[in-house]
Amino acid sequence: MADWHQDYERRYKELKQKGKSFFPYAVFKDCLVAFLLFGLLAFLAWKLGAHLESLADPTDTSYNPRPEWYFLFLFQALKAFPGSLESVAAVVLPGAVFAALFFLPLFDRGHKRHPLDRPFLTGLGVLAIAGVTALTVEGYRSPLVNPVVEKNPEVVEGARLYRQLNCAYCHKIRGKGGVVGPQLDRVVGAESPEWLERHFRDPSAVTPHSAMPRLGLLDDEIKALTAYLKSIANEPFTQEAPKLFAENCAVCHKIRGQGGEVGPDLSTIGSARDKSFIVRYIEDPAKTNPKSGMPAFRGQLTDLQIEDLARYLSSLGR
Ligand code: HEC
Ligand code: HEC
Repeated sequence: MADWHQDYERRYKELKQKGKSFFPYAVFKDCLVAFLLFGLLAFLAWKLGAHLESLADPTDTSYNPRPEWYFLFLFQALKAFPGSLESVAAVVLPGAVFAALFFLPLFDRGHKRHPLDRPFLTGLGVLAIAGVTALTVEGYRSPLVNPVVEKNPEVVEGARLYRQLNCAYCHKIRGKGGVVGPQLDRVVGAESPEWLERHFRDPSAVTPHSAMPRLGLLDDEIKALTAYLKSIANEPFTQEAPKLFAENCAVCHKIRGQGGEVGPDLSTIGSARDKSFIVRYIEDPAKTNPKSGMPAFRGQLTDLQIEDLARYLSSLGR
């Protein structure tokens, strides 16, 4: 047996004699630390809580998906791979790293313990940590893909109230909900905020014999619901909008069976895209979709015409 091995065995025996047994000493320490960490976690959950985002909304094109900071390096690494190789970066590479760690005791069989005596593996480890750190920093700094749209807190609160008060039991918004009352996204565009507020305070004072109950809402709640309903309402478009579509867009796009086939059928575009997306697309498709085959209309159409067209299109399929 090699010298160093005997030496090692001897030291092992020595240490074992003066050491303490795993059970109960080490187990007790483990339990204590686990308990303290659990207590800390419970305290943080109680005092700070998890900051949930608002409900997922597939029509929200301004959302910027981002992982938590500890996954930013992976998020950033993914960008270095083209779409077809994404699974290599997401599955194969991390798999290889963990397999290497798993089998490390089988091929790293040197007897020296000090990191400086093991330059190859130490170097590899340092490199890996530096790489992960650099990718994390780069990921953190990388620009958001979608412009940040400041969400009006009143609108967010209104959407929450709408869910909490079960308005959808009687009303539809974008095709979802009950049929007792009118489809709100269709009708509230025509109402003034003052009308809506008066109606919320006492529906039957505004619409005699209204089947909508008086909900006893607070002023803040009425303001929030009104702001929310105004935000989802279809804005009125002019008679010109369908004509503009026929003249400029129908060569390539169909609406209800009428039009060309070069671009997608837009008959239900309003259920998938909101107005601001459509405005941006009409103005300059390449900004949203670099491979776009659609011409830009900024300059061809006035801003007012584009707004009108976008209001018309976003009302389709709702
Ligand atoms: C029990 C069924 C019912 C519930 C619950 C209900 N509504 Fe109504 N709502 C109606 C009916 C019926 C009408 C049509 C008569 C009227 O205008 O009052 C109506 C009308 C409205 C209108 C006026 C639409 C227009 O422009 O003519 C708005 C806005 C409205 N509801 C919003 C809400 C909101 C927001 C909630 C939840 C806080 C809600 N409703 C809960 C039945 C209901
Ligand atoms: C020369 C053909 C052509 C013309 C003209 C055209 N488009 Fe398009 N459009 C396309 C194609 C192709 C796409 C599919 C995606 C892409 O290539 O940009 C598209 C995509 C779109 C989209 C995005 C659909 C989605 O959900 O991603 C909208 C909105 C749109 N067009 C609106 C219009 C409007 C409004 C007009 C008229 C002002 C118009 N287009 C004129 C070819 C055209």
